Amino acid sequence: MRLLDACRRTPVDATPVWLMRQAGRYLPEYRAIREKLSFIEMCKRPEVAAEVTLQPLARFELDAAIVFADILLPLEGMGIGFRFTAGDGPVIDHTVRSAADLEGLRVVRPREDVPYLLETIRLVRAEIEGKLPLIGFAGAPFTLASYIVEGGHSRHYAETKKLMYGEPQTFARLMRLLADSVVVCLQAQVEAGAQVLQIFDSWVGCLSPYDYQRLVLPWTKRVLDGVSDLDVPVIHFANGASAMLPLVARAGGDVVGVDWRIGLDEAWRQLDEAADTPGERYAVQGNLDPVALLGPGDEVEARAADVLGRARGRAGHIFNLGHGLIPQTPPDNVRRLVDFVHSWRDS
Ligand code: CP3
Repeated sequence: MRLLDACRRTPVDATPVWLMRQAGRYLPEYRAIREKLSFIEMCKRPEVAAEVTLQPLARFELDAAIVFADILLPLEGMGIGFRFTAGDGPVIDHTVRSAADLEGLRVVRPREDVPYLLETIRLVRAEIEGKLPLIGFAGAPFTLASYIVEGGHSRHYAETKKLMYGEPQTFARLMRLLADSVVVCLQAQVEAGAQVLQIFDSWVGCLSPYDYQRLVLPWTKRVLDGVSDLDVPVIHFANGASAMLPLVARAGGDVVGVDWRIGLDEAWRQLDEAADTPGERYAVQGNLDPVALLGPGDEVEARAADVLGRARGRAGHIFNLGHGLIPQTPPDNVRRLVDFVHSWRDS
């Protein structure tokens, strides 16, 4: 399967492509289900979550399925309840801003706490067996911590940074709890049938390289080390981190996910330089601006051609967006993009 080959930097017949948030509100068949169920209900009903996972695959020639779930789902079992609101996205009531707030929190137990996620993986795997690989995922410790400390989405990450700077030991305890939870969650997903793993560090771009290296990298590395013996390729996506890619790469993993704020050729050059030996180089995933998909079809192709041209047909490129698809995306442009990527031949 192309995606698995590309993760291992083996040559492929065409560049594999999947898209972050490939299942979601831009698809009318998703919105039809979402009218009847909340997002959380969809995640917690394995038949529904499996159906939604497969929706984009019925329309487009994508090279992977990604299980329909959310990075926040494991928090509930850790003792951190949350809900999704219509306007503001996720809201966490039990914020952690002091050592006392850590009392009673524990490492997630995937079989008890997210059984529906594991069942969804089993259902999807049975449907696509031998045809497409299934991606399991989790949030990186920093991105999860930012939700838990802020109580939701944030602009300045002021509370998170205050905790990092003012109470580094409390922050470290929270990061350890999250790292250990993420590892067991990913292990359970592989046992249930996930064949590739992706770690999403969506908000780590708010940090300076100084803080990333000292306070965050060790915990992401703990996650990547913790899953390195599972025999599945691991993609590490750090959004907004194109100015510190060599540091990001140091956390481990097989594939580095790159956002659109850097040329793919320059990103890959920096990653090559960061690798200890040529044999341990990284595969690269990315990196079209998701909002490029809102332009006319020809312009979508022009931007995809730029990404592919920078990859120069090198083994180990997985085409993706630089972040998730947005709900306004026209499905026809997604089709055009996927077909264009597959038809690309490096000249
Ligand atoms: O990629 C896929 O198709 C798999 C599904 C997936 C979802 N969330 C479904 C979802 C994945 C991989 C995620 C990960 C996730 N969740 C991340 C990391 C990826 C990224 O985009 O950076 C983050 C930060 C979250 C947290 C989260 N979940 C937010 C901030 C929101 C609200 C914003 C929004 O888009 O509404 C969600 C909700 C969410 N997760 C939706 C979907 C399809 C929308 C739910 C709805 O239908 O209302």
